[in-house]
Amino acid sequence: MCGIIGYVGPRDAGNILMEGLRRLEYRGYDSAGIAILTPDGKLAVEKRPGKIGELEGALNGRPPPGRCGIAHTRWATHGAPTTANAHPQLSSARDIALVHNGIIESAARQRPKLRDLGFDFRSETDTEVLVHLIDLAFRDCDRLEDAVATALAGVEGTYGIAVVSSRDPGKIVVARNGSPVLLGIGDRDEYFVASDAAAVVAHTQRVVRLRDGDSAVLSAGGYRTFDPSRRSVWRGAQIVDWSPESVGKGGYDHYMYKEIREQPSSLRDVLRGRLLEEEGSARLGGIARAEAELLDTDRIVITACGTSWHAGLIGAYMLEELARVPVTVEYASEFRYRNAVLSPRTLVLGISQSGETADTLAALREARRRRCRTMGIVNVVGSSIAAEVDFGVYLHAGPEIGVASTKSFSSQVVALALFTLFMARRRSMSIVDGREMVDALRRLPAQVEEALAVDDAVREMTEAYKDAPNFLYLGRGYQFPVALEGALKMKEVSYIHAEGYPAAEMKHGPIALIDENMPVVVLAPRDAVYAKTVSNIEEVRARRGRVIAVVSEDDDGETIQADERIVIPSTIPALMPVLATVPLQLLAYHVAVLRGCDVDQPRNLAKSVTVE
Ligand code: AGP
Ligand code: GLU
Repeated sequence: MCGIIGYVGPRDAGNILMEGLRRLEYRGYDSAGIAILTPDGKLAVEKRPGKIGELEGALNGRPPPGRCGIAHTRWATHGAPTTANAHPQLSSARDIALVHNGIIESAARQRPKLRDLGFDFRSETDTEVLVHLIDLAFRDCDRLEDAVATALAGVEGTYGIAVVSSRDPGKIVVARNGSPVLLGIGDRDEYFVASDAAAVVAHTQRVVRLRDGDSAVLSAGGYRTFDPSRRSVWRGAQIVDWSPESVGKGGYDHYMYKEIREQPSSLRDVLRGRLLEEEGSARLGGIARAEAELLDTDRIVITACGTSWHAGLIGAYMLEELARVPVTVEYASEFRYRNAVLSPRTLVLGISQSGETADTLAALREARRRRCRTMGIVNVVGSSIAAEVDFGVYLHAGPEIGVASTKSFSSQVVALALFTLFMARRRSMSIVDGREMVDALRRLPAQVEEALAVDDAVREMTEAYKDAPNFLYLGRGYQFPVALEGALKMKEVSYIHAEGYPAAEMKHGPIALIDENMPVVVLAPRDAVYAKTVSNIEEVRARRGRVIAVVSEDDDGETIQADERIVIPSTIPALMPVLATVPLQLLAYHVAVLRGCDVDQPRNLAKSVTVE
């Protein structure tokens, strides 16, 4: 979950590393640290708990000099966010420094043995075990890469690591197993290591993605990659299509707001070249070669976490209604450990923005072991999930940096709509219905632009609700997952407790919570269940709940009695979630800003959850 950045080359490493850390802060922000090999042959190290600003303050804007170094922003798994637990973790003689993403599961077992051998532990992290193991192995070899390899052979767990040592200076040793690591290949004999491309695109768009079990050695003279048996292996470079500007805030105060406002263009990107107007169908290059297998599929299991799971629920409604395929949706963390009934004709579809979420990746691996076909709907090109599935669809939404997912959610729903079209037109959907859906998809980006026009109105009403202790979100059918997503957005960025519920289920419990202090957001576009939703609104009002209704432009304006009305454009029911989510994203954002919350880096969260 953490951010790793390393640099070796002709320039001073310090500022490059600090800038890389700022780009990576969204991946974890409990504490940060930096280690640089200085010209006098020592390791200069600085670490601080808190955000990267604290580390910058400690360095007084002047990182130590040196052309080779590593840095880290942490999301703690073992041990509180303190200076001692921050990375880099150091050997006792402070001559080896290591940054780590993941969990060394064997740490508890190995710690006493290392203590018996005389190693002092100064942190509570699992990571420190690995540094001492490298130190131990260094007694019998001269090269840092050999010591690292010996140490890694003795541990269990997941890791992406970068290591430097003053005993073998001028190089960075990198290894990965289960946690993402990539190398950035610069133009001027300079090399980077990073946990994701956002940290390096300001310097280079050429990256080499390591595979599980791989390791690498970087120095100013070049880089070498090794396979799991430590044989030299060529891992080709790819060009990342993220521009340096796309990882900035583009003049907005927060990434989350920028990404909400970007949705018309990110939706154009997910649709580009994929609509077949004449045939009323979709062209998806990444799954075209799997057409025969897809048509032979008798059941789909969608698996994902968080917001991606909500998109999956909408996908299930679409696929069942329009393509007539049976679909279940499972939390990846549940699916991977339970014994689901699966067959070679089951398609397991993983949805993930980052492509690195540990549970989703593990769920897909389990599906492969069970001989299912696996498919991904993923944003980050070349990420672990994208690399491991049999086939898939990319979102092309560009980097999403705000911890709260926004633009990737709408792109996921649209990618699922395209996949539904692809399947439905080969199964049960008529050309007329197909063309109607293609037309609705084509119009969607402009409609999202219109939906964004509610921004000012939402911001104005926020003042009245910002101190509410709870929010309830209600929706039926396609709007039920939207209610879940609205509640999740509110929780994660504003720290207000919020629940999403199927509107009719409210009567079976949550209705007891409703009083004049409870804002209830009701998703009530004109659809097949409109009249039922109207009744649910009445039930809330009868108990003096405050109703914020999201209605469609074709609403008559009289049937629904609400304290606030937010009007959005209208489209086919399957795509209404994309439009209905926009005001909920804005509501959560404005409430959080008014409450003074750190919108882009909410407490305790991290962008990609690469540990279980
Ligand atoms: C969304 O706002 C969350 N931060 C989180 O639920 C996220 O959607 C989840 O961790 C899944 O991430 P992924 O899409 O990168 O797999
Ligand atoms: N498990 C390590 C720790 O708690 C690494 C955490 C991370 O990935 O940031 O320090």
